[in-house]
Amino acid sequence: MIAVLGVSGSIAAYRAADLARDLMRAGFTVRVCLTDAAQKFVTPVLFETLTGQPCLTDTFEEPQTGRMAHIDWARQADVIVVAPATANTINRLAQGLADDMLTTIALAATCPLVVAPAMNPQMYASDQVRRSMETLASRAAMIVQPSEGDVACGEHGQGKLASNAEIATAVLGVVERGKILAGKHILITSGPTQEPIDDVRYLSNRSSGKMGAALARAAQILGARVTVVSGPVKVSYPLQAEVTRVQTADQMLEACLLLGKDADIIIGAAAVADYRPASHVAGKLRRSSEPISLELVPNPDVIASLSEAFPAAAVIGFAAEPNPELEVARAKLVRKGLVAIVANDVGNTAIGFDSDQNELILVTKVGEPISSGVQSKLSCALWLFERLVPLTAD
Ligand code: CTP
Repeated sequence: MIAVLGVSGSIAAYRAADLARDLMRAGFTVRVCLTDAAQKFVTPVLFETLTGQPCLTDTFEEPQTGRMAHIDWARQADVIVVAPATANTINRLAQGLADDMLTTIALAATCPLVVAPAMNPQMYASDQVRRSMETLASRAAMIVQPSEGDVACGEHGQGKLASNAEIATAVLGVVERGKILAGKHILITSGPTQEPIDDVRYLSNRSSGKMGAALARAAQILGARVTVVSGPVKVSYPLQAEVTRVQTADQMLEACLLLGKDADIIIGAAAVADYRPASHVAGKLRRSSEPISLELVPNPDVIASLSEAFPAAAVIGFAAEPNPELEVARAKLVRKGLVAIVANDVGNTAIGFDSDQNELILVTKVGEPISSGVQSKLSCALWLFERLVPLTAD
């Protein structure tokens, strides 16, 4: 296992030497990258001697000629740990800047990120740092909170780098988290469907696909192979996921039946249109002064069909309800042959269709429903999978 240890310019940089040793004892090959400011406190020679690995400081450094180190290190890392993380480095990571080797590696990596802040308590309490940490946490970075105490500048408050034991535990925790769904194949339906009326109009709904994308990212963070069958959305899915784009409910079902054969878990996050126009008018339906009526016919129930077609898979649905009524959700669970259903209140604009946040209520056949609380969609998705694993164990 490879840990990239990013060290930024805090007086606590000296503690990164011991942290590197602790991570090596825990079984990691440790590769250190220093920011410019970190080099005012510690040197590459220190870390190269300790770790037996090259220590990078410059974006264009190439320990192996012809290999782009920032890409190699990003691809090969199982985890990136930034400790100590200064206010400046935290802000740069949150903004996705790539203005030095450390931030460039972090931007190119898909592995988990652990951030251990260390700074003056006022800086730590500033709106900007808080916002940046929220941004990083909403992307599933693990923040190891600094402790309270006397800091180097003479002030007292929260800003001291957490203990190396706490940081190492967090690193091992995120690496273990990456194995929760290892070897599992997860199929996710996502987004709305569009049911054509004519060549320029369709029936659809307000689903953005953000929850489906968060589920795909979470499943990947937890180590699964991920397949997404998505209706038309602007949101982007993780690069490593296999994504099939469809337009209609019929196409969604057809694609899922093809791709879901070996799925261990199937999640219906798509807002599938329940009805489609009975006929598709070629060209454009012309305006007239007379009322017209549109005959609608029922669409297939994608998730119910999948639970019937793939009895070995654990199938989970979403119940999009304005003012969720849990009995309605539970009735859907039974009707569709699901292991669990996730109710969410699409009537609440703070957590509904296009929002970045959500609150999930997990409803199973027996027992009390449990709530995730309001969190980013990615945090909700991680929360959900961690609870689904025991339910879906065979
Ligand atoms: N679903 C589906 N195919 C449909 C309708 C719904 O796969 N044609 C799935 C959704 O992806 C979701 C679950 O069924 O996982 C519940 O969707 P919801 O819209 O809440 O329920 P409906 O069955 O459409 O019932 P109603 O519209 O009456 O609430």
